[in-house]
Amino acid sequence: MSVRIIVGAQWGDEGKGKIVDLLSHDADVVARYQGGPNAGHTVCYGDKSFVLHLIPSGILRPGTTCYIGNGVVIDLTALEEERSALTRQGIGVDGRLFVSGSAHLILPDHRLAERHNESGATGPTIGTTGRGIGPAYTDKASRMGLRVADLLDPEIREERVRMLRERTLRLVGRDAPVEPIERVLEGLARDAERLRPMVVNVSLAIASAIHDRKRILLEGAQGTHLDLDHGTYPFVTSSSAVAGGACTGVGVGPTLIDEVIGVAKAYATRVGNGPFPSELSGELAEQLREEGNEYGATTGRPRRCGWFDAVAIRHAARVNGLTQLVITKLDVLDGLPEISVVTAYSINGRRIQEMPESLAELNAAEPILETFPGWRAPTGAARQWDDLPREARRYLDRLEELARVPIRLVSVGSGRDENVRRHANLRSTEAVGR
Ligand code: IMP
Repeated sequence: MSVRIIVGAQWGDEGKGKIVDLLSHDADVVARYQGGPNAGHTVCYGDKSFVLHLIPSGILRPGTTCYIGNGVVIDLTALEEERSALTRQGIGVDGRLFVSGSAHLILPDHRLAERHNESGATGPTIGTTGRGIGPAYTDKASRMGLRVADLLDPEIREERVRMLRERTLRLVGRDAPVEPIERVLEGLARDAERLRPMVVNVSLAIASAIHDRKRILLEGAQGTHLDLDHGTYPFVTSSSAVAGGACTGVGVGPTLIDEVIGVAKAYATRVGNGPFPSELSGELAEQLREEGNEYGATTGRPRRCGWFDAVAIRHAARVNGLTQLVITKLDVLDGLPEISVVTAYSINGRRIQEMPESLAELNAAEPILETFPGWRAPTGAARQWDDLPREARRYLDRLEELARVPIRLVSVGSGRDENVRRHANLRSTEAVGR
């Protein structure tokens, strides 16, 4: 038996989809614990590429049972589209995809409310994915949300939808172009019947899997620095993307977690607004964006690109209790003559080693860089640690040292097999000699 959490250590888009798919090879159960259709987990194998938004990436392994936990907010139209797209591509989900009765739903009113908020009418604009995530979680916290279990009950469903509509009209104005409420209710009645066979108590299902000594992966979306509590607030998503969110997001106690695996790119990216101290501009940023195909899997927006930020990773290591780190997209750096890492920040002339909590300080943070010679050689064919160029090994050793978490896997391409595994006792000779 093992329960492992997979969490993003940066600002999302770290390549968690590929890593969950890879680790699902040895998993019986994969459960998503937070976020919603704002996520875009890309998994490639053979000549096929899948982008999953709500359904756990483990669905691509035929023997895996997948759950959408109570911490996720579900857009039923998006779920149905994803389910049909998988079926069309020969991936059957029936009988192995289940949804928590306690998960909250995203309604058309939430998307409308978000458009209103993101127009600047209510506060700072975040640059959200526009999927209604913030308003759905707001209603959950305000105890006004519609849960999957409520959807199945016609009376509660109607009462909630009418109450939410009243609230929406107060927010956006009574002449706003809302979807007629009768149409919303009809659609939800159809959705309820389609969803009914998939609804389970995910906490009980996982407890039973643990009892049966199954191997379980809890899949996070977004990343630590987009976490509502531990991210760069207010430029965050509205859920608990950190490892602690896995416990509340599927209903499993912290004493049952065996491992917390952090995923980070060999550089850094961010989509949307908010502080990003290691951000690059100009040609170098453009090169990373093109080499790494850094465009949002959900919105297509170009991602902001920067160097690996060890301050941000140390923060992620601490708040998640990372037991290991997976580094992705090393190959994107293959052509660079020099590669830098942010080791600390300079804020108003002071050297700062840890992520500041104040937004003003974060905005003022100047990166302190350590620069390495690049390897200028392709890494995509490497499968063993020693296949990597010497400079690449030195770079990874230094990331590990700065992060204070062991690196156990390095991804060097989008394919399932394009990985270098590193055993616990394997350090490159440079690191051992240091
Ligand atoms: P929301 O989650 O749509 O409310 O967006 C809040 C912030 O999180 C915005 O900056 C988004 O760009 C960012 N965000 C949300 N989901 C993802 C993701 O899956 N990857 C990267 N950024 C994301």
